[in-house]
Amino acid sequence: MLLDSVAYTIPHMLLNTTTKDAREGVYIGIDVFFGRAIHWNAKLSPRHHILVVGPTGSGKTITLTAIASRLSNLFNVTLTVFDIKGEYASLLKLFTSDATVIWDVSQIPIPICSCNEADEDTAYNVNLFINTLNSLYKLPTYVRDQIREQLIKLCKYCYTTSLDDALRNYWIEETESIHTTLSAFSAGYTPSLPLHLLNQKNVVVDLSKLFLLDPKATATVVLYILKRIMRTLQNLNLGYITKVVLLDELWYIAQSAVEDFTNILIRYGRGYGVVLAMATQSIDDLNPYADTITENCGAVIALSSPSRGYWIRLSRYLNLSKKGIENALKLVGQGMAVARLYPYEKPFYIYIDPLT
Ligand SMILES: Nc1ncnc2c1ncn2[C@@H]1O[C@H](COP(=O)(O)OP(=O)(O)OP(=O)(O)O)[C@@H](O)[C@H]1O
Ligand SMILES: [Mg+2]
Repeated sequence: MLLDSVAYTIPHMLLNTTTKDAREGVYIGIDVFFGRAIHWNAKLSPRHHILVVGPTGSGKTITLTAIASRLSNLFNVTLTVFDIKGEYASLLKLFTSDATVIWDVSQIPIPICSCNEADEDTAYNVNLFINTLNSLYKLPTYVRDQIREQLIKLCKYCYTTSLDDALRNYWIEETESIHTTLSAFSAGYTPSLPLHLLNQKNVVVDLSKLFLLDPKATATVVLYILKRIMRTLQNLNLGYITKVVLLDELWYIAQSAVEDFTNILIRYGRGYGVVLAMATQSIDDLNPYADTITENCGAVIALSSPSRGYWIRLSRYLNLSKKGIENALKLVGQGMAVARLYPYEKPFYIYIDPLT
């Protein structure tokens, strides 16, 4: 019997007591040993982000959805979901009654500037776009300068165009990937979905069609939107927890721009009150920044796997002892997990409760 064996072999679990403060946090699930509710107090945690790791089908998406929607309800803040499989629009309905806007970026491209915005905002947003593009495609300086000049001109005169059309002549080496990326962006006026909507409503950014065409284009879109969200929050200066962002299947961003992504995570997270709730299959997807990323997470949740190597690899991030690894191996089934939740040093063995 799992519970008995856990009780017998890991008496240190008895030291994990849930304080009143912890009960005030976000509900995560049930302690499989004690049968009590486990909460994580994001407010007390110096590091806000959440990392979920788990093999395919282990429950990452459900875990992220449950925790992210509970956090956004608890702090009364908006939720932005980057959805590369097109699964969140229906899933979110089960977890939140708040209206959700679906933004399909293959239908409505991301505006990098809008008419009537101040020149300094245009310059900032254009630079943000070029820097993001550069972190994925490594552009020579003169190309960056040329496209900056062109984009500022387009924005200033409020010329509405796809960036793929506007920047056709600027590439020395044209690739399908760069065309796909640029076609997801536009200059000028996009009346239906301005970016600031992301700070007013729950939005699912549907990247599923773009992802089928090109994961790198999708990573560019996610990074750019994340940076724009941060910029708006910086201007609003709201303090504390201001937004929850859900980022499933992190590997494709890590693969093409892990450094840029890690910088966003570290620099913006705490100060801007953004909680990034992320999931990926393997901790090694995040190399060489796995340590830095986990250090910036107040909650690290590893869903069950029968692989010993998986738990050994994760043991340093979860503070799992040898006995702990043996017990983790006994967890079977979707939603069963080992979680390190700040401020507790010792890991919890939990069932992620998708309900409530
Ligand atoms: N906490 C849970 N309790 C009960 N069932 C769950 C739980 N989490 C997930 N499941 C079940 O497992 C299925 C797969 O879960 P989910 O899609 O979250 O896995 P995943 O790790 O995201 O998979 P993938 O790697 O394919 O994206 C769900 O459809 C649901 O039926
Ligand atoms: Mg999933």
